Amino acid sequence: MSTNTRVLIRNLPKEKLAVTDYELVESPMPSPADGEVLCQTLAIGVGAGARAGLQGSASYAGAPQTGIVMNGQTISRVVESRAAGLNKDDLVVCGSGWQAFAAHPAKAVTRVPAIDDPAHYVGALGTNGLTAYFGLLRVGEPKASETVVVSAAAGSVGHLVGQIAKLKGCRVVGTCGSDEKGARLVSELGFDASVNYKDGDFRAALKAACPDGIDVYFDNTGGDVLGAVLFRMNTFGRIACCGVVSQYDTSNPAGGPRGVPGLLVNKRIRMQGFLVFDYASEYATARETMLGWIKTGAIHALQDEFKGLAQAPAAFVDLLAGGNIGTRIIRVAS
Ligand SMILES: NC(=O)c1ccc[n+]([C@@H]2O[C@H](COP(=O)([O-])OP(=O)(O)OC[C@H]3O[C@@H](n4cnc5c(N)ncnc54)[C@H](OP(=O)(O)O)[C@@H]3O)[C@@H](O)[C@H]2O)c1
Repeated sequence: MSTNTRVLIRNLPKEKLAVTDYELVESPMPSPADGEVLCQTLAIGVGAGARAGLQGSASYAGAPQTGIVMNGQTISRVVESRAAGLNKDDLVVCGSGWQAFAAHPAKAVTRVPAIDDPAHYVGALGTNGLTAYFGLLRVGEPKASETVVVSAAAGSVGHLVGQIAKLKGCRVVGTCGSDEKGARLVSELGFDASVNYKDGDFRAALKAACPDGIDVYFDNTGGDVLGAVLFRMNTFGRIACCGVVSQYDTSNPAGGPRGVPGLLVNKRIRMQGFLVFDYASEYATARETMLGWIKTGAIHALQDEFKGLAQAPAAFVDLLAGGNIGTRIIRVAS
C-alpha cells in the first residue's frame, strides 16, 4: 500500500451538485505521528447534510473550500498505532472522509465493538442514527398514541425516526418523494401511512393521512413540506428542525414558510432546531440502545450501497435526487 486514493472537491457547486465537482487522485500514504493512528476506511456514510457544508449553510462545517478531501463519517480499521490505548485492528468511527486511509490523533477517533456489519456505524449507529434518536426523543418528545410526521422519511435519518416513534406507541406518517418508497415504509418498516410530497394534492393527502392532526413533526426538509405540515399541527405540538434538504442543492434557497410565528403563537407550538453534537456525551448509551433494537429486529436499519471511492460522487448526486432508501454507504474495503 504505497498510495492513498482520495476524492477531492474540485469545484464548489453553483447550482445542482455534479460528479464533475469532484476528482479522484492518488496521493502519498499518510504516516501517523506520535499519538496518532493510521486508519483504513471500511465504509463511508453519505448524508444530505454534507451538501449544506458545500453550500456554506452549515455553521459547524466552516467555510467551504476546494482542493480538500470531501468530508464524511467513516468506520475504519486501525492499521498502525502510535497512540496509547489503540491497537492494530481496532474498529474506530472517525471522519476520514472520502479517502482510503487517514491518520488521526487518538482523540479524534472512537473505538467501537466489532459487530456483524460494521457499516452500521455510519448509519443507524452513526451520526444519522443518533440524530434520529436524540432529535425525536429529546426535541420531539413523542407520547404514546400521538401522531408523528417525519419528512425525507425513506432516507437515513427519516426511516429510523419513524421506527423509533412506532416503538414509542405513536401513529407514524412519513412523507417522501415516490409511491414506491412510501409503500416500503408501510409494508417493511411499519409506518401507518405515507404521503408523496410530489403529488399535486399533497396537502389534501397529508390531511387525510393525519385525521387527528399532527403532534410531532420531525423536519428533515423545510420547504413546502414544512409549509403544509405547519397548518395541520395540533395545539402544544413540537417541531424538531433537523435539516433543510429541500434547500441545499441550490445557490438560491427559498424563504421560510407562511404561518411563522403566527401559528406558533396561537397553537403554542414549540419549533426547535438541534444539532446531534449537543448530545455527544450520551452517544455510547444511545448506540447501545439502537444496537439492541437492531439485534432484536425492533428496528430495520436499511443500507443502500455503492462500492468503491470512485462511485462516491455519483452516490451523493443520486442521493440528493432521492435515489436512496435508508442510509447510503460507500463500501471501500472489507
Ligand atoms: N441536525 C443534525 O444534527 C443533523 C445530523 C445529520 C443529518 N441531519 C439532516 O437530516 C436530514 C436527512 O439527512 P440524511 O443524511 O438522512 O439524508 P437522506 O434522507 O438519506 O437523503 C436525502 C433525501 O432527501 C430527499 N429530498 C431531496 N430533495 C428534496 C426536496 N426538495 N424536498 C423534500 N425532500 C427532498 C430525498 O428523498 P425523497 O425521495 O423523499 O425526495 C433524499 O433521499 C438532512 O436535512 C440533514 O441535513 C441533521
